[in-house]
Amino acid sequence: MTKSSSHLSFDVLVIGSGLAGQTVALRLADRLRVAILAKRSLDDTATRWAQGGIAAVLDSADSIEAHIQDTLIAGAGLCDEKVTRYVVENGRKAIEWLIAQGVPFTRDEHGYHLTREGGHSARRVIHVADATGAAVQETLSARVRAHPNITVLEQHLAIDLITAAKLGLPESHCWGAYVLDLAHQRVLTIGAQNTVIATGGAGKTYLYTTNPDTATGDGIAMAWRAGCRVANMEFIQFHPTCLYHPQAKSFLITEAMRGEGGILRLPDGTRFMPRHDARAELAPRDIVARAIDFEMKKHGLDCVYLDVTHKGEAFLRSHFPNIYARCMELGIDIARQPIPVVPAAHYTCGGIVVDLCARTDIPGLYALGEAACTGLHGANRLASNSLLECVVFGAAAAEDILRAPAVRIPALPAWDESRVTDADEEVVIAHNWDELRRFMWDYVGIVRTNKRLERAMHRIRLLEREIDEFYAHFRVSNDLIELRNLVLTAHLIVACAMRRKESRGLHFSRDYPETLPKPKNTVLTPRRHRR
Ligand code: FAD
Ligand code: SIN
Repeated sequence: MTKSSSHLSFDVLVIGSGLAGQTVALRLADRLRVAILAKRSLDDTATRWAQGGIAAVLDSADSIEAHIQDTLIAGAGLCDEKVTRYVVENGRKAIEWLIAQGVPFTRDEHGYHLTREGGHSARRVIHVADATGAAVQETLSARVRAHPNITVLEQHLAIDLITAAKLGLPESHCWGAYVLDLAHQRVLTIGAQNTVIATGGAGKTYLYTTNPDTATGDGIAMAWRAGCRVANMEFIQFHPTCLYHPQAKSFLITEAMRGEGGILRLPDGTRFMPRHDARAELAPRDIVARAIDFEMKKHGLDCVYLDVTHKGEAFLRSHFPNIYARCMELGIDIARQPIPVVPAAHYTCGGIVVDLCARTDIPGLYALGEAACTGLHGANRLASNSLLECVVFGAAAAEDILRAPAVRIPALPAWDESRVTDADEEVVIAHNWDELRRFMWDYVGIVRTNKRLERAMHRIRLLEREIDEFYAHFRVSNDLIELRNLVLTAHLIVACAMRRKESRGLHFSRDYPETLPKPKNTVLTPRRHRR
């Protein structure tokens, strides 16, 4: 690391410390000087919250072709077949790498235990009980902290990328980012030969979400402002089973519970999924979430119920210790009572357009994990494919960066605060944040219409004007930066949804209920898109 007061410089700047960011950092650090940013603590990530596990072909009764087919079917015609094959074929290697890092996957008498989730035709989800993400995050964080070539910058929030275009230089390149050091409230200029966006998804755009507070679409918004294409943002995955309880903020009830035999019921005990799909509780998520939404609206319900009482206390305690304990804390004994559940925004299938090496449209800028749109998830992600994608693309990006010739970082100007003052009314930010998340939930949720989308876009434009003005006049703060990104991400979600004149995968429109014969990605290009 080279350092002057508010200027730092590294070979590679990794923005984000989830599985995507930690994978690429660890794979580079033996050869290059890497900085890894986390806007909260290193472990405050969606990765840490992952429950079910990681999909990979590890059983001799399973096959690469079956995993590819399951992914393509869930993706509703929009998965890139080449990318899908690449990720699935690299699945075993990815798991072996995680095992080599020390991840303690659950074993049984036959070897590693594999569970099952919706849309998978075989048991292929390797896991650490029902807290896979926590084990992965802790294992990799320990390695990252111990590596002498990795500088960990926690409580550091990237504001915007520094590109050649912004510097008035002729050759397109990303040279790092401006970063708010939250502890000292100062903006750093961090230069890098290569920059990796691994900032996760945008679940916080919605009022109800399974995601942590970090998921505000920052990387997607930064890349868009820098000039990168963004695709398929209309495909927001709603997880069917988030715990419904006033004291439980965003607590997921893993799909593995349905994989192990959980049954969805109405309050009177009626099982309803077989009426919606032959695969019943194990249909892909879009179908299960829509079925729950339909039943809740039809019967005027606040929630439906996931019943696992028939599995018995011993099984539930050993397979789902985390969920068992959390529900018990809230007064729900899952061995004796059905669990109240509702759908909630869970996964951003679209994102920054990248190639097979995770390269974006700007040289020197990579995007990985939930922030990226690799082509793997199409119109609906197959459960447990996202952690796999983080590891496979983390390795691919690292290889590409290691192949690239070293370049000289130009002189980078400091962040200019000469024309701003402290905000007069922070309440505007809190109010806009709440308003955005509520109308996104009401108008851009599981079932959409033209009218609802137009209403949402109208409000987004008003918020954008207000926030742009705020941003131009006042000193940046954590909440302002996140809100600015959240509104832009919402804009991209609605713009993509408005362009899709059909229903496909996770995008269901009452005005266009049919699926068109030819699947097409929704690709937005910054300079062509009218805001
Ligand atoms: P994250 O893990 O979300 O990490 C994002 C990082 O970026 C954080 O460190 C954050 O601080 C940082 N960051 C963001 N913005 C900025 C900024 N402006 N400046 C600096 N840092 C920033 N997938 C599966 O495959 N299997 C599962 O079982 C599974 N279960 C899940 C359960 C839950 C409850 C949730 C929410 C998701 C689950 N998923 C699962 C999805 C999966 O966890 C995520 O897609 C994946 O972890 C994303 O990893 P990531 O590295 O891209 O981002
Ligand atoms: C879950 O455990 O249900 C989440 C799995 C995923 O999102 O892939």
